[in-house]
Amino acid sequence: MQIIKRSQCKQKPVKGTALGFGHYFTDYMFTMKYTAGQGWHDAKIEPNEPKPFDLATSIFHYAQGIFEGMKAFLQPDGSIAVFRPGENWARMNRSATRMCIPNFPEDVAEEGLETLLKLEKDWIPTDPGTALYIRPTIVATRVMLGVHASTEYLFFIILSPVGSYYAHGLEPTKLIVEDHYTRATLGGTGEAKCLGNYAASMKAGEEAEEKGFDQVLWLDANEKKYVEEVGSMNMFFVIDGEVVTPALVGSILPGITRKSCIQLLKNHGYTVSERRISIDEVLAAQKAGTLNEAFGTGTAAVISPVGLIRYRDVDYTINGGKMGPVTKFLYDTITGIQYGTLPDPYGWRKVVK
Ligand code: COI
Repeated sequence: MQIIKRSQCKQKPVKGTALGFGHYFTDYMFTMKYTAGQGWHDAKIEPNEPKPFDLATSIFHYAQGIFEGMKAFLQPDGSIAVFRPGENWARMNRSATRMCIPNFPEDVAEEGLETLLKLEKDWIPTDPGTALYIRPTIVATRVMLGVHASTEYLFFIILSPVGSYYAHGLEPTKLIVEDHYTRATLGGTGEAKCLGNYAASMKAGEEAEEKGFDQVLWLDANEKKYVEEVGSMNMFFVIDGEVVTPALVGSILPGITRKSCIQLLKNHGYTVSERRISIDEVLAAQKAGTLNEAFGTGTAAVISPVGLIRYRDVDYTINGGKMGPVTKFLYDTITGIQYGTLPDPYGWRKVVK
């Protein structure tokens, strides 16, 4: 793979820096282009520098774009491991199909990612809870204002050393149930990781933050009754020992951390149900004292305990506002596999060769 070197590298954040999420970016990126009639071409590593775009480029107007989130971890033996990248490439191509973006060759993307990670190894942070976040993205690059699928695309991967997604780290999050705005509808783009889903969630997110909440808990668009997801996380509830997560009905992102947690829980003897779960059922369980735990899962959020849910101006505290044992088991196991401190019986760690 072609590597275009830069003359001067950036200053890396020193050990101990509070990285936050998505504020620092490494020296290089992977790029690949698509042109109708030619297919995907020109895969290379190049300096991560601003690129000039014509303001009529279609991504700026109609948001025909998709992305993914993964993480790379420095292992105790000094190697680099990525958590289940094959799952992300497959999901990205499913998102591409939904958004009329031509499918990309997953082997070329994986080779590009591994070449990039080897080049940027020194950027992988080593403080507890940190990782090198990987953001593969595809944007429509045809210069045109007609509302049609583009005939040109740019695929890129940028890297960002990150700490925890929430400013308060592993402290349980506070969610507010959104019963006015809608994130996604059946037949819409909710299960694709497309740019517009995130733009559409911002209004509710801002209002939630103003009220002192971390995130919005979305309900289904039709009846405003069933729990869907949190935008940056899939949701799980532990009710009377049963672990329940909303079924993937078409408007929910099929999370890879979600899928991993379901497998881990089942293999450890937990009863896990993927089914529709109404907000009334969750809150009735809280009132009855049988809502043992609630938590969210995601690449950026990892496993995040939920300590409080507000619905129609009433606050419901969960597990005394503390992390519960199922949440802790999943956090310890998933991060243990990711950081290489636990065995990997499922083959989820992809070591960069
Ligand atoms: C991720 O977890 O990687 C996400 O994409 C969620 C959010 C940061 C947009």
